[in-house]
Amino acid sequence: MTDTEETEPPDVGELVPPDRTLMGPGPTDVHDRVRRAAAAPLVGYLDDYYVSVMDDLQELLRYAFRTTNEHTFVVSGTGSAAMETALANLLEPGETVLVPGNGYFGQRMGHVAARAGAEVVTVEAPWGQPLDPADVEAAFERHQPTVFGFVHGETSTGVRQPDVPALTDIAHAHDAYVVADTVPVLGGLPFRTDEWDLDVVYTGSQKCLSAPPGVAPITFNERAVEKVHARETPVRSWYLDLAGVWEYWGEERNYHHTGPISTNYALREACRLIAEEGIEAVWERHRRVGGAIKAGAEAMGVPLHVDDDHWLPTLNPVTVPDGVDDDRVIERVMDEHGIEIVGGLGALAGDIFRVGCMGHSARPGNALEVISALGTVLAEEGADVDPDAGVTAVRRALAE
Ligand SMILES: Cc1ncc(COP(=O)(O)O)c(C=O)c1O
Repeated sequence: MTDTEETEPPDVGELVPPDRTLMGPGPTDVHDRVRRAAAAPLVGYLDDYYVSVMDDLQELLRYAFRTTNEHTFVVSGTGSAAMETALANLLEPGETVLVPGNGYFGQRMGHVAARAGAEVVTVEAPWGQPLDPADVEAAFERHQPTVFGFVHGETSTGVRQPDVPALTDIAHAHDAYVVADTVPVLGGLPFRTDEWDLDVVYTGSQKCLSAPPGVAPITFNERAVEKVHARETPVRSWYLDLAGVWEYWGEERNYHHTGPISTNYALREACRLIAEEGIEAVWERHRRVGGAIKAGAEAMGVPLHVDDDHWLPTLNPVTVPDGVDDDRVIERVMDEHGIEIVGGLGALAGDIFRVGCMGHSARPGNALEVISALGTVLAEEGADVDPDAGVTAVRRALAE
């Protein structure tokens, strides 16, 4: 066929997504108000109205990040684009960066930093365990990195890195900059950018903030901004080079690229919902509903693959019982109950189900539904579990 031949137009049907309850690692269910915001009429990317939306977003995000950083803005891309923005702008070729080896996304930080020309060194811990500050200190002594990146909530393992200030203290004692990945954390768990003295923090829109995927909030403190301004080499990405991006998000409001207007409308509404509920109340809701999922899984007979000390309420790594095909269970929970959960990644593939509890999905009814569905399917697949005990434990935990 040549392109001059006549072809029939594609006959695809109207868009009718299935009705799901999203209890995986994101995206999450979104509030109706967020969906309506995404459907609002477009304006231009430098229209006064859109500029006011950008201003509002910056203010709302400072509240969510717990920061007064002026350079708080939204990367036009998913969480990985924010990760790349942080590392590509902070690092110059030949600088050494220290990243974690104990999870899929910590390792991604290393891949991203290597593309920026950095020397990548890792601090290791087994998958399913957090980093030990003593190992971080030893890695600093050995490699003298200029930048340290860590993942506060490792979505691949369901591990929360406890005691963030202990890590920032080590890095700052060595004059290094700290980049925190809070993709499944921000707007779900207590996180305090300024109090914990973090230099750069980024997240995604589609997890605890509960907006559609496609944009990624990020914040830089003055120290980090100065390092970016003092670069001697150009950033190895045109699109993510903050010299241009900050012209759009800074006072100039100059064109750099076309802002993702509808997605930022939605993010603004999602952040407005958080502000209305109050950030502390939002954190407490995630702890309560995530705790109910944890209690339900444990009572049913499938404990979490993580110690209580570093449990991540927004992502519960539920142990796959012996003799059970995890993919089949995930498929049945979806097909028969309309609920999305996912399997393990990397070193934990086949060992855990990842049951999320984020944003608008972090609601009591969803905790009950997911534990009931998972218990029913596991029992039917021959696992030694007690679904009723799971449901009772969820109810009890929610009533506390
Ligand atoms: C901890 C962490 N960092 C980074 C990312 C990358 O985000 P995205 O998939 O939005 O690019 C994810 C995504 O799940 C994540 O969980």
